[in-house]
Amino acid sequence: MKDKAIALHDVDLSLGRGAARVHILKGISLAVDRGEAVGLVGPSGSGKSTLLMTMAGLERPDSGKVIVDGTDLSGLDEDALARFRGRRIGIVFQSFHLVPTMTALENVALPLELAGEDDAFERAEAELQAVGLGSRLHHYPAQLSGGEQQRVAIARAIVPNPAILVADEPTGNLDENTGQSIVDLLFALKRDRGATLVLVTHDLNLARLCDRMVRLRSGQVDLSPEADAASAVA
Ligand SMILES: Nc1ncnc2c1ncn2[C@@H]1O[C@H](COP(=O)(O)OP(=O)(O)OP(=O)(O)O)[C@@H](O)[C@H]1O
Ligand SMILES: [Mg+2]
Repeated sequence: MKDKAIALHDVDLSLGRGAARVHILKGISLAVDRGEAVGLVGPSGSGKSTLLMTMAGLERPDSGKVIVDGTDLSGLDEDALARFRGRRIGIVFQSFHLVPTMTALENVALPLELAGEDDAFERAEAELQAVGLGSRLHHYPAQLSGGEQQRVAIARAIVPNPAILVADEPTGNLDENTGQSIVDLLFALKRDRGATLVLVTHDLNLARLCDRMVRLRSGQVDLSPEADAASAVA
């Protein structure tokens, strides 16, 4: 499994306490090749975001294995896991998650500064230029449009050159045209840098742009022929 970008073996995860405890991921096994784009689809509440966070090392499974870029995440303590995430995994959220008191440039430089890199600001500037925001370096998030904020978030996710990029409904808060430009950007990154992309989306047109679609249903990978057929025609 060393050759896979992401490999999950029989992953189970429950979250919440007491009556609010929910068994979310139920025996998920899944492998994603290096450089592959996977569209993760399924009904609301089926566990897509939770699965993405588990792949990104932001949630630890109760049982089962998560292997990312050849590393078994269960073998890492919290500090090592945070360092691993910072270097190898880029994460893009639906609601951008930028630091409001930092400029675009400072937001993008942050992961590099945390990793102790000396050229953080030069690289952050180059990355913002690459996403078309060279003229917005010193703007704060509140001074940027939604699409611009998402481009800053993408620049921040990719500035460490991660092998894996995960995105949770990255176009969910954007109008159609702006969403399309974000999609183009994500696929260009995959193509140009050979990154592995896992994309959660409710948009089947977008999921179909991926090399493969994975459908979740009630916390399990839906392998039914109907799911395949639905993926093909829906
Ligand atoms: N921290 C938590 N504690 C308890 N239950 C949770 C927690 N996080 C998620 N859940 C529950 O787990 C289920 C899966 O949630 P998840 O966010 O992964 O779904 P999703 O497929 O991403 O849905 P959507 O398409 O609406 O974003 C939901 O029923 C949700 O209520
Ligand atoms: Mg979700």
